[in-house]
Amino acid sequence: MVRIAHAVLTVRSLEASREFYVDLLGMNVLHEEPGALYLRGVEDREWTLKLVQEDHARVRHLAYRVAGEADLDALVALAERQGLPYRWEEELDRPRLLRLQDPFGIPVAFYHESQKHRWLLQDYHLHRGPGLQRVDHVNVMVPDVERTMRWYMDELGFRLSEYTVDEQERYWAAWIQRRGGVHDLALTNGAGPRLHHWAYWMPDITAIVRTCDILAGARQPERIERGPGRHGVSNAFFLYIRDPDGHRIELYTSDYVTVDPDFEPIRWLRDDPRRQTLWGAKTPRSWFEEASDMEAFDGGVVPAVAGDLTGIPVHVI
Ligand SMILES: [Fe+2]
Repeated sequence: MVRIAHAVLTVRSLEASREFYVDLLGMNVLHEEPGALYLRGVEDREWTLKLVQEDHARVRHLAYRVAGEADLDALVALAERQGLPYRWEEELDRPRLLRLQDPFGIPVAFYHESQKHRWLLQDYHLHRGPGLQRVDHVNVMVPDVERTMRWYMDELGFRLSEYTVDEQERYWAAWIQRRGGVHDLALTNGAGPRLHHWAYWMPDITAIVRTCDILAGARQPERIERGPGRHGVSNAFFLYIRDPDGHRIELYTSDYVTVDPDFEPIRWLRDDPRRQTLWGAKTPRSWFEEASDMEAFDGGVVPAVAGDLTGIPVHVI
């Protein structure tokens, strides 16, 4: 397992999505075909977000890149051993995509082979909008954070960087990683599985503030849900925005590295006001309650289930 790699989201209007992701956020269109757009940030050498026109807005799958074909064989063996549904799919320039449903109902996919494209990072004259740079992480709401976290750590080799517990030391959220940053995957307590957000790394804080100015200029301030601000967890500077279908996108920058093998995970108490926002700002209720549905293996929606700890922390507007 190398890293988080792409998301495929369904949207109700590809034109409304194009206006949001391409015209306002400035994402680069790598490929388009009737009913689908393949997008990337300026550092992404591959597409990292595919939008598909449907009559509903859901998560088709979340994909991770693996180091080689042998890793795909190992994942097939894992799926066989644990009775997880799986099949082979193809996505544009990814001829062997292993699509499976994890034990918690999250639609995931894994691939190695993919076509690389010319880097745009230093083609500054082609940059548009606030400058989304590269895919950074995904955050999934699940009803049992600890059980989900253990599976990803035990079976897929993820490592823990930060975690949140309640007064009884029960896991409320976890940030786990493969590539030496704070996280490729965050797990947050809530009715799920549902996609909480898909996140892009930004070149700097100014680019995040500029996103707010661009959305305000376009008379779409309602797309700004939370922030900008500084997270306690991860130390990242952040902004949460909602696309025309309500899919939540985080723009994120300035976290830290976790590559040392003896890295000590950082523990937070759920109701510590510095955890969510270091500055103590409260979080809108929608941020804890709203998320995107996920597709079941044979179509339809994975039912969202609430867990024992599902509820709203205290620092809410
Ligand atoms: Fe995030």
